[in-house]
Amino acid sequence: MAQKNILVTGGAGYIGSHTVLQLLLGGFNTVVVDNLDNSSAVAIERVKELAADFAHNLSFHKVDLRDKPALEQIFASTKFEAVIHFAGLKAVGESVQKPLLYHNNNLIGTITLLEVMAAHGCKKLVFSSSATVYGWPKEVPCTEEFPLFAANPYGRTKLFIEEICRDIYGSDSEWKIILLRYFNPVGAHPSGHIGEDPRGIPNNLMPFVQQVAVGRRPALTVYGTDYSTKDGTGVRDYIHVVDLADGHIAALRKLDEPTVGCEVYNLGTGKGTSVLEMVAAFEKASGKKIPLVTSGRRPGDAEIVYASTDKAEKELKWKAKYGIDEMCRDQWNWASKNPYGYGSPDSTD
Ligand code: NAD
Ligand code: UFG
Repeated sequence: MAQKNILVTGGAGYIGSHTVLQLLLGGFNTVVVDNLDNSSAVAIERVKELAADFAHNLSFHKVDLRDKPALEQIFASTKFEAVIHFAGLKAVGESVQKPLLYHNNNLIGTITLLEVMAAHGCKKLVFSSSATVYGWPKEVPCTEEFPLFAANPYGRTKLFIEEICRDIYGSDSEWKIILLRYFNPVGAHPSGHIGEDPRGIPNNLMPFVQQVAVGRRPALTVYGTDYSTKDGTGVRDYIHVVDLADGHIAALRKLDEPTVGCEVYNLGTGKGTSVLEMVAAFEKASGKKIPLVTSGRRPGDAEIVYASTDKAEKELKWKAKYGIDEMCRDQWNWASKNPYGYGSPDSTD
């Protein structure tokens, strides 16, 4: 049987690189498009090393999604079965400061991609949405039917793209689209060769914890200790990035089913973990003490967010396998082997 060609936008990034590896190991031909704005070409090389005999099935184009002629060329030279679309900017705080940058990059990038897909008759898409579209949920677990609300420009780009996808399907039922709402991806590939390497000061909990553990930052600031949670700190649904990557393979399979239209699935574990519980798990995994500084709540933060996983389990036949101990073990393995990520002490701050 001929191998299927899959286009992965943002495939050099954190979640993208882990998914590309799973695609290669699953026998897919994989073409990555990434402008490397928030990633490194080294990640692509590492994925190739891990893919070993399958490495020749990966090709990489340093292209911005908004560069329509360049995208056209890629689609003209390869017939794609489907696209997995990760490419986008994702820092919530930055999106508040620079909304036009976020709307331009995320929306124009996606619209350009969808136009080129349609022009080339490729109408299967898996899109990286986010639990951010639940805003500040009034109850948990979050089911896919919850009302949607964006609390910041980044979240609005996710919400708008979801709506654009629903409109496209409404206009042309040949499209098959799966919107995956990720909860909090953490951890790294168990090899420790690929992982998360954010530029600048990390916004998210675990990249920050990791940088404290390797001595790049003095202490973790805990944002809020007065929430109505088990220990007063915020609760989230952390999911191992390899589980998340496997969720994309399950979504691709689902796209082959004739009845699929525009569907939405949560990808989480269904378990809520507090900041202090996560820090304790990381300390256990790494043997390192993480000094803490407590501060007030971070503006815009939700109190408790975790997923209902029923729909993904039932319809995608996918379920997260790993718990927070494995997430922290693999995060530390990656951090201790690559304290400066894909760069060197001079190349990052
Ligand atoms: P990431 O920044 O590591 O990866 C995104 C990749 O897209 C980067 O390699 C970046 O260089 C590339 N990119 C951005 N704009 C581009 C453009 N215009 N053209 C080409 N390439 C472009 O982020 P990630 O954590 O891997 O996230 C992947 C996707 O999942 C994003 O869409 C993000 O919003 C979404 N998501 C992430 C999280 C999370 O916590 N990591 C949670 C929910 C949803
Ligand atoms: N936290 C700290 N200190 C830090 C960073 C985070 O105490 O230095 C706390 C937060 O207050 C929160 C928890 O750790 O209680 C998790 O925070 P993250 O920033 O890691 O994750 P969020 O759930 O706030 O948001 C992330 C992404 C969003 C995305 C959401 C769900 O930033 O874009 O996950 O996918 F929508």
